[in-house]
Amino acid sequence: MALRGTFSSRAGFIAAAAGSAVGLGNIWKFPFEVERGGGAAFVVMYLVFAFLLCFPVMVTEIAIGRKTNKNPVAAFGSLGFPKWNLIGKVGTFCGVLILSYYNIVAGWALGYLIEMLMGNFDIGNQFSQAQVGAGEYYYAGDILKVVVYSIIFMWMTSYVVGKGISGGIEKAAKVLMPSLIIMLFCMVGYALTLPYAMDGLKYYLIPEFGEINASSIGGALRQAFFSLSLGMGTLITYGSYLSKKENIVSASALITLADVAIAFIAGLMVFPLIAFNNSGDLTNLVSGPGLLFVNLPNAFGSMGPGIGVAVGSFFFLLIAFAALTSTVSLLEVPVAYVVDELKVKRKKAVWLVAGVIYLVGIPSLLGNGASEFFTYAFKLPASSDFLSLAAQLSDTLLLLGGFFIVTFTAYVWKRENFNAELAQGFDGFENSLVSKFLNIAISYICPFLLGLLFIVVLLSNFFGINLI
Ligand code: TRP
Repeated sequence: MALRGTFSSRAGFIAAAAGSAVGLGNIWKFPFEVERGGGAAFVVMYLVFAFLLCFPVMVTEIAIGRKTNKNPVAAFGSLGFPKWNLIGKVGTFCGVLILSYYNIVAGWALGYLIEMLMGNFDIGNQFSQAQVGAGEYYYAGDILKVVVYSIIFMWMTSYVVGKGISGGIEKAAKVLMPSLIIMLFCMVGYALTLPYAMDGLKYYLIPEFGEINASSIGGALRQAFFSLSLGMGTLITYGSYLSKKENIVSASALITLADVAIAFIAGLMVFPLIAFNNSGDLTNLVSGPGLLFVNLPNAFGSMGPGIGVAVGSFFFLLIAFAALTSTVSLLEVPVAYVVDELKVKRKKAVWLVAGVIYLVGIPSLLGNGASEFFTYAFKLPASSDFLSLAAQLSDTLLLLGGFFIVTFTAYVWKRENFNAELAQGFDGFENSLVSKFLNIAISYICPFLLGLLFIVVLLSNFFGINLI
């Protein structure tokens, strides 16, 4: 145990877990998924999924982690079901895959921050030109810069994880998360004063339910899962460092609420900025990952040199902060495995694992224009580059992971054991309403809907078949 470390307080755990949840998924991915998924109708589905399906999965992951004090690969075995460790193995692989490309995007954000500070707004224009040529790629220009920025980002992540749970992950989250929230509110306040802000808000907030179809329903669930860091064992790992005194259910509710609120509020910042850049016309947006990286630098550029530098740097600093508390949680999962099972010292494990993950990320790095092969050879219905493939694959695996985690808990580990774990730190859990909801959710609602939507997403992402 001494080797593993623990969170020093409830607030520290919540900051770290919310920090894991709040990331590029909220600020960069959520807006473009909203755009792709048809605006506000997507937002409504996302909210329903977050509370109905994701919150129970989160409680389950944290409960498994805290019960076993193990990394996801060993946790299932330690409950007496070693075959189910496969869930943890696939999850850990999935985490490696996510971090490998996530780090590249985080590196862009860091790069944009530095370019903004130097007053270089042209990056946006360079990107939009790159877009004209080839659909969905950006940062085509300077591959060397992307390499340097992504190495720096991986280094920062490793530095934090190397310092351990309470001395690294928790400490960083306690500084970064409050700063992030303050910065976000300042940015929303500013964005709402821009011309055309109302057009952005209308687009974001007025639902058109006609736009709902298989791919937007699946997209909303995928987004909720990703945003809440579910399905691969991040929260099993964080839960394994949590004290028995803490109330898992209320902590999970807070984490879910914080994540959803921050995604929602980020939309209030991003859509006015996009509307500002497009003079209020949101009909023909750059779709997909380029949405922010193309529109926003342009928006900052047209604010004028002084204020543009200030607002732009502030924005990308905010994104970098959000990303760092998430990359840290992704790296912690394979690191915990290496530390626990291979008995390697934390610092050594961190540099080893981070190095491997960086290498796994190279195809994603090259897949945005630098290498024709990695940009075009990975044909899916909606993309052709390696990074998108990695993202689609991991998103789909997360749903499958979530399905197996709840099914395992309800039918293999058994509900009474799950309930007993939750009752620790929660007096009166047995007779509470939330206990009834959680038990019904993990036994019926989640397995059914996650299984169904896994198939919907699989067919739609990989085969272009839309069932609804
Ligand atoms: N939730 C983070 C985000 O929204 C990303 C993330 C961190 C994640 N850990 C994860 C996603 C585990 C899936 C699984 O940016």
